[in-house]
Amino acid sequence: MTATDHPRYPFPCQDVPVDGRRPADPMGLSALYDGLAPVSRVRLPEGHEAFLVTGHAECRRVLREQDTFQRAGADAIPPYPHTSPTMLALDGREHRAQRDLIGNAFAPARIDRYRPTVERLTSRLLDALVQAGDPIEVNEQLAMPLTLGVIGSAMGLPDDDLPLFRTWGDLFLSTGADRAADNERAMLEMTAYMAGRLGGLMSDVDPASEDVGLLSVIAANAVRRQTGLEEAALLAASVVIAGWETTAAAIGGFLFRLLTAREQGGDTLYRLLAAQPHRIPGAVEELLRTTPGTAFESAQPRRAAREVDLGGVRLRAGDLVIPAVDRANRDPDVFEDPEHIDFQRTPNHHLAFGGGPHVCLGAPLARLELTTALRELTRRFPDARLHHAPHDVVWNTATSIRHPVALWLDLAHQEPER
Ligand code: HEM
Repeated sequence: MTATDHPRYPFPCQDVPVDGRRPADPMGLSALYDGLAPVSRVRLPEGHEAFLVTGHAECRRVLREQDTFQRAGADAIPPYPHTSPTMLALDGREHRAQRDLIGNAFAPARIDRYRPTVERLTSRLLDALVQAGDPIEVNEQLAMPLTLGVIGSAMGLPDDDLPLFRTWGDLFLSTGADRAADNERAMLEMTAYMAGRLGGLMSDVDPASEDVGLLSVIAANAVRRQTGLEEAALLAASVVIAGWETTAAAIGGFLFRLLTAREQGGDTLYRLLAAQPHRIPGAVEELLRTTPGTAFESAQPRRAAREVDLGGVRLRAGDLVIPAVDRANRDPDVFEDPEHIDFQRTPNHHLAFGGGPHVCLGAPLARLELTTALRELTRRFPDARLHHAPHDVVWNTATSIRHPVALWLDLAHQEPER
């Protein structure tokens, strides 16, 4: 088989219309995955040959064994974004040094400090939805302002500056023709902005830094470790950019899923959660497992640093490797009845947040935002439903993040009788 015979990857998104109609479940994965071996050859859009890793065990190895599967030389391979010089493009000591600048600020044990902000912002946005009246649009009226507001407040950024991050976010995640230039420009502009804010903090470090936001934590760590201003600014920009649009997309994607999938032909999963709120943490894990967060259905590509056996395939040094986490999350050897959304699935070792040294830094914060949003929505609006038919919902293709372009809901809110 020559490289040109290998299947082209990424596989077409399930949202591609068939006979003029979109499939009812755009979160399903392409049938082109069926029958693939856990490690198989594919061809990327500009002709690069790569090994697509769809087995859960193999995918986990790629994410964990950083000495063998490196980001070096694997960044910005089309269609993947240009992530350099953020930590996502680094390996080994350099990567750890960047990541250590934020310390354990998002560790599960410390996440409760963000809970009041997340709850206050969620509640304020839901109050505004009631005021606005049906139908409401999830991205603009809830998901984006919530997740950007949370990370902005955690960082200690002024609210007035947050719209800047929306523009930078779209450029950084763009998959358009000028992708690499746009991705890089966004990172440069964000880093310059963060350098402006960090400069003063680094020259006058406050020992009680954690109480005035993460920027101060980063500044204090940078001074302690004698890290330059630019590196500290880069880290701050990376955390904001990696943190909000992914989580906003998950809110839209999860709601779509909950409002369209039904439990054995009965109630929607949304109504089930409204009736059984204790299932929400389990539901979030299961929705993370089954809802692709990116158009590529994978984490970032890696390159084999040496010859290695993976899933019975011999890889050579320099081979490109794609950890297809969304497919691995449906590996029947690990997840029984993988297409079934089971809120009580235990254990649930999904790879939606990656794994190993690059494992998502903000996963505990994302979990807090997602559980809070679902808990408050289902509690206040148990009768919410999609405003349009599922197949009329259009999915984003302008950036690598997968989410409905617009998700209109009728909250069917009823004022309590006086
Ligand atoms: C549902 C929401 C989220 C999802 C699905 C998600 C997913 C991921 C994945 C899969 C990776 C690893 C990529 C790879 O190894 O190639 C990652 C890395 C990262 N995430 Fe998240 N993420 C989410 C939310 C967040 C939040 C809220 C933050 C920050 C507050 C964040 C910050 C980061 C950072 C900084 C990295 C790079 C870590 C490194 O390279 O060491 N993410 N995320």
